[in-house]
This record gives sequence, C-alpha cells and structure tokens, in this order.
Amino acid sequence: MPDLSTSYMGIKLKSPIIASSSGLTNSLQDIIELEKNGVGAIILKSLFEEEIVTEMEHELHKMHSENYLYPETMEFYEGYDVEDTLTSYLRLIDECKKQVNIPIIASINCISSHNWPYFAKSLEEAGADGLELNISILPSDPEASSLENEKVLFDIIKAVKSEVSIPVAVKISSYFSNLAGIISQISRTGVDGIVMFNRFYSPDIDIDTFDVIPAPIYSSPDDYILPLRWISIMSERVGCDLIASTGVHDGKTLIKMILAGATAVQVASTLYKNGYAQVQLMLNELKNWMANKDFSNIEQIKGMLSQSRSVNPAGYLRIQFMKHFAQK
Ligand SMILES: Cc1cc2nc3c(=O)[nH]c(=O)nc-3n(C[C@H](O)[C@H](O)[C@H](O)COP(=O)(O)O)c2cc1C
Repeated sequence: MPDLSTSYMGIKLKSPIIASSSGLTNSLQDIIELEKNGVGAIILKSLFEEEIVTEMEHELHKMHSENYLYPETMEFYEGYDVEDTLTSYLRLIDECKKQVNIPIIASINCISSHNWPYFAKSLEEAGADGLELNISILPSDPEASSLENEKVLFDIIKAVKSEVSIPVAVKISSYFSNLAGIISQISRTGVDGIVMFNRFYSPDIDIDTFDVIPAPIYSSPDDYILPLRWISIMSERVGCDLIASTGVHDGKTLIKMILAGATAVQVASTLYKNGYAQVQLMLNELKNWMANKDFSNIEQIKGMLSQSRSVNPAGYLRIQFMKHFAQK
C-alpha cells in the first residue's frame, strides 16, 4: 500500500491534499468533515486585514471622537476586549486544535505590513500550526513600478517572520513581471512554502444590463496548466516547498502536480462542485496509480518531471503554437 504522507512547510501531512482557504474552511463542522474525507491539512478562511482594521477604527472612533490618531502599536490592540472578527477567528483555531488532528494553518489577507505582526502573533498563540500569507496586490496603477508593488510583499513577509516562529507560507498570484525572479526572491526570505497561485474574484460584463458582474467564482479543471508550468520550472530552484493551487479538480491533476514538483496541492472549487468525498476519490486515484507504477511513497515521484529533471525541459518553456499553426 503506497504511503501518501508528505510534508508541507516542514509539517508532516497524512495526505497531499490540503483544503484551500475558502468558505468551506470557516467552521468547525466543515473542518471536521474535511478531515474525515482525508485532507492532510486545513487552511482557514482568510482573516482580512481591512475588515479588522475597520472594526478597530470604528471602536476607536467611538472612544475618542476628537483628535483621533491612528496608533500602530501592540499596546493599542491589546486594550481590546470585544467579540470581533479576530476574537472569533482565534476561537475557531482553538476549537479546531481541540477537535481535529490535522494541522490547522491560519490565513491572513494582507494589504500592508502595518498590522500583521500583532495579528500573526495572536494566531500563533491561539495554536495555529502555520500561517499562510494571502498577499493580494493587483498591479493596476500604471504609475507604480514593479519594485514598488513588490516592496509591499517583502515588507509583509519580513514583518510577520520577525514576530512568529511557526512556519510561514506565502500565497501569491501570477501577476508579476518577472515571475521566476520573484518566486526565487520570496524563497530566499526564509518562508517555508509558496502557494502557486491564488485565484481572485474577477469582474465580468452583462451585455444586456450593462452591469459589471462577478465572473464565475470557481476554477475550471483546465486552469491547472498555469501552476503546473511554474511549479515544474521552479521546483528544483527554490529552497522551500511549492504547493499547487488553482484548477486541481481530480486525481490525475493531483498526480501531475506532484510529478512537476509540488509537495502538496490545495483544493477549493472541486470541493464546492463535487463535495468533500472528492478528496477520497482523488486520494484513491493517486494510491492506485502509485501501486500500478510500483511507487511506494510521494518522495519518489515528487519532481520526477520537473523542468530540470524532465527529458524534455524545453517543453515547459515553449510558449508559441508554431508547429500547430504550420499544420493548420
Ligand atoms: C468561495 C471562495 C472563497 C475563497 N476565499 C479565500 C480566502 O479567504 N483566502 C484565500 O487565500 N483564498 C480564498 N479563495 C481562493 C482559494 O483558496 C483558491 O486559491 C482558489 O479558489 C483556486 O483554487 P481552486 O481552483 O481549487 O478553487 C476562495 C475561493 C473561493 C471559491
């Protein structure tokens, strides 16, 4: 029987499927169900910096309606004792740690480096096994340089790393001008994992009503090709774990991601579309495939087809359809 255990950020996991941060990882009940169905770890729904800061500002305004100054010190936050978003989040971590046996990774959605050192510390103290930084920067300002956009990311990593001793992963998007360079730079900050890639809320247009509407929330099974290429290119070039995210819907894609070099995969859309039992189906497919190919553990297959170990490394770098155009 093949051993499906792996490790994520130095934490041993019983399976390489992790429940991504989403509305499905926001309650103890769902988390217990996910554990029963075989996920190796849970990334809790992100705690949103903006949401907490807005709540705290609101409270502060109530206390000092005049001459309001924004304090960014731990002492300021320590004065709070309200049932707010942060408190409920800390309670969820505590409950999970008491009732489930798989690692619980807290997730924070960061837009600046100001508040996170304090928040991150409280998540660690509540018992989180690790921290995932969901750093979402949409580089939409034409006047901002890529260096300016990237500085925010590195400032956040530095601020959080200086506060916590639990493992830290960074979940990034693919919106970078020099993706290989940035992944390599992130890996040198001392983070333990890089999740590639986040999938954001996106706008769409309704041509009947002329409204801007939400685009489909869930990924499609073909979306895996972007993370697959980049995991295969980067997996032997970084000193931290790479975790595949976006478009991992079935067992075959799980196997492909591990062959490309992923330590584990994260899944959200397939759980929404197919239910939690999909995790069992995916794990069974991996197990049967490994048994048929005579592999006994994940380490044997991890990165077997990464770009640098593949017999066709150029295949991962090709971007034009030249041959196909020639064939008509
Ligand atoms: C309803 C929903 C809520 C999500 N909320 C979060 C979140 O709070 N934090 C986060 O980092 N990612 C969030 N995500 C993104 C997922 O964690 C994941 O990265 C993305 O959906 C791509 O993976 P998938 O193709 O398996 O869905 C959310 C996704 C969905 C569908």
